[in-house]
Amino acid sequence: MTQVRITRLDAVMEGEPREFDTGEVQVLVIKLGGRIYCLAAKCTHAGAPLADGNISGDTLTCPWHGSMFKITDGSVLRGPAEKPLRTYQPVVQGDYLYVDV
Ligand code: FES
Repeated sequence: MTQVRITRLDAVMEGEPREFDTGEVQVLVIKLGGRIYCLAAKCTHAGAPLADGNISGDTLTCPWHGSMFKITDGSVLRGPAEKPLRTYQPVVQGDYLYVDV
């Protein structure tokens, strides 16, 4: 397993989903209630950029066709998407966020 540096922690704002492309992975980072969640950045239905989606509670809604995903585990709450979002384990070291890939 490789650890990839995603961003400085202060670039992640509460409730504001943000996509980071490291060249190796495209990761959507969401901070909710002070916890950080890292998910696949593209919707599993047709590839929409989920950083443009809406957050309500622990639910992320895709901007294109309205699929809903649970932020805490990537599971599908409402289609048309059928596959869950891949999740990445966030690792905080100093001022930086890393994920294991
Ligand atoms: S691309 Fe996300 S629901 Fe279609």
